[in-house]
Amino acid sequence: MKMHASSLGNKNKFLILGCGFSGSFFAKTIRQLGCTALTSSRSENKDPNSFVFNSENSIVPNEKIFDGVTHILSCIPPDKNGNDPVLVSLKNKLKSIPLEWVGYLSTTGVYGNTKGDWVFETDQPNPFQERSHKRLNCEKEWIESGLPVQIFRLPGIYGPGRSTFETIRNKKIRVISKKNQIFSRIHVADITNAIIYLLQNKNSLKFHQIINIADDNPCSQIEVIQYCYDLLGLKMPKPILFEDAKEKLSPIAKSFWMENRKVSNKLLCETLGYKLIYKNYKIGLKNCFLNS
Ligand SMILES: NC(=O)c1ccc[n+]([C@@H]2O[C@H](COP(=O)([O-])OP(=O)(O)OC[C@H]3O[C@@H](n4cnc5c(N)ncnc54)[C@H](OP(=O)(O)O)[C@@H]3O)[C@@H](O)[C@H]2O)c1
Repeated sequence: MKMHASSLGNKNKFLILGCGFSGSFFAKTIRQLGCTALTSSRSENKDPNSFVFNSENSIVPNEKIFDGVTHILSCIPPDKNGNDPVLVSLKNKLKSIPLEWVGYLSTTGVYGNTKGDWVFETDQPNPFQERSHKRLNCEKEWIESGLPVQIFRLPGIYGPGRSTFETIRNKKIRVISKKNQIFSRIHVADITNAIIYLLQNKNSLKFHQIINIADDNPCSQIEVIQYCYDLLGLKMPKPILFEDAKEKLSPIAKSFWMENRKVSNKLLCETLGYKLIYKNYKIGLKNCFLNS
């Protein structure tokens, strides 16, 4: 496929709303391309490129922050009522500026439980958890906002500083075995790079409003944990059966085991031609091992 790169550079100003794990990786990378990137957090900090946005107490950014903004990336989860914090507080402001693009980081939880089957963007969402109903509502709010939004559905995010290695080091690891249970995942660098790839090739690629970003290798959690122990040169603790472990899990931890699906990346990687940096957990975790 011939690509007509539309370069991102110093004419572009990004607001990254919710600068946590994924947002900060995106901000750092987009700045390396020469773009301006201002980032939000809920409390003041020393970073001169950071501003305060907190929908919980209605602290909205100063008007000047929005001057010249061309792109927005929202990494903020739904609020407790299931509404999108950005749209609750800033929809009218965003609609008043000539935005080229808005990205929204969502979750593959909206697909619900497919008992291990693949999920594709064309599938009807079928959320099971309450938080996934809220997420689907936020996706709907973004679509109905009339803003030029693109939604990225993400499975478990990992990367340097947030991976199974940290769970092992913090002694919080639980090695749980549940027959036929599969999880999908994505390295934080691939979230950023896939989005940048789509933006840089926007003029030549067909626009898709909803895109999964996942790696090629959904697999069991035990496989991943075993690989980390092997890299560390340590012996993995004996697995506990899910049935025996479930009473001790927090409601949120337990909820992840109640759904089973494999997230397809065919649209992103075959139709749209994005090449994953970390195709599977082995390559991705090696990167974490070397950088954390
Ligand atoms: N973690 C995963 O495995 C995973 C998987 C799939 C999808 N997702 C979703 O993908 C997105 C990015 O994930 P992430 O793990 O990179 O996120 P993260 O590190 O948890 O960062 C979330 C950001 O949202 C901000 N935020 C939260 N509530 C807010 C509010 N009411 N008003 C303003 N800002 C608010 C936080 O502000 P502070 O910096 O002040 O805390 C933080 O910067 C999130 O929506 C997440 O739910 C996550």
